[in-house]
Amino acid sequence: MIIAANLKTNLTRKSTTEYINSLEAYIKSSGVSQDVLVFPAMSALDSFNSSYLSVGAQNAYPTKNGAFTGEIGTEQLDEFNITTILIGHSERRHILGETQESIATKFEYYKKLGYTIVYCVGEPLQKREAGKEEMMEYISAQYEGIDTSYENLIIAYEPVWAIGTGLTPTLEDIEEIHTDLKKKSYAPLLYGGSVKVDNAKEVLALKNVDGVLVGSAALKVDDFCHMISFAEELQK
Ligand code: PGA
Repeated sequence: MIIAANLKTNLTRKSTTEYINSLEAYIKSSGVSQDVLVFPAMSALDSFNSSYLSVGAQNAYPTKNGAFTGEIGTEQLDEFNITTILIGHSERRHILGETQESIATKFEYYKKLGYTIVYCVGEPLQKREAGKEEMMEYISAQYEGIDTSYENLIIAYEPVWAIGTGLTPTLEDIEEIHTDLKKKSYAPLLYGGSVKVDNAKEVLALKNVDGVLVGSAALKVDDFCHMISFAEELQK
């Protein structure tokens, strides 16, 4: 399975290094065979080059370099041998205003370079409350311009209303949506949105859930390791 930590705008360069070192030590000593991904803040990226986990970028602009104030491109990512990127996260869509068009352009750029792309989709509360049909239409629009057969693609289904709120869909709902989304792409499909130690095992055990993308509950490395151990126990 794929167990990913999105550290968002948290931790410093120093504490991120400590986090990754502890995580690596845990994976090594317990012989974990899951795919572990970590997305640190931009300023904490470094040459971690671990064979036990992958470090990816939470965002980058579709460029090698140039005049894009506040952004980084592949010149900066190459410095640290980073070849994994998160694209389409709801915070970038809804807070930073990224459009489906700009997201698709970014996807295409990093796809051409062979990056592993963790591509996020998910509906806001209003769309969920509007009923299944409208909700699925909304999610389907987030697949526009995205090559769903890209070999290095991982999709993360993250309902916007579940992110950082402590709320989650029911296990039945997660399984149902994942089963629907699997018809759109064979790519591994992660669930994200208020995953924590208390619910990770049940979520990971669901059909068509190939892993989890964890935000707040991954900030404590011991908790994140605990969630990795559930995946290891389930061994799907
Ligand atoms: P959360 O965030 O686990 O804090 O809900 C998940 C995410 O945004 O990827």
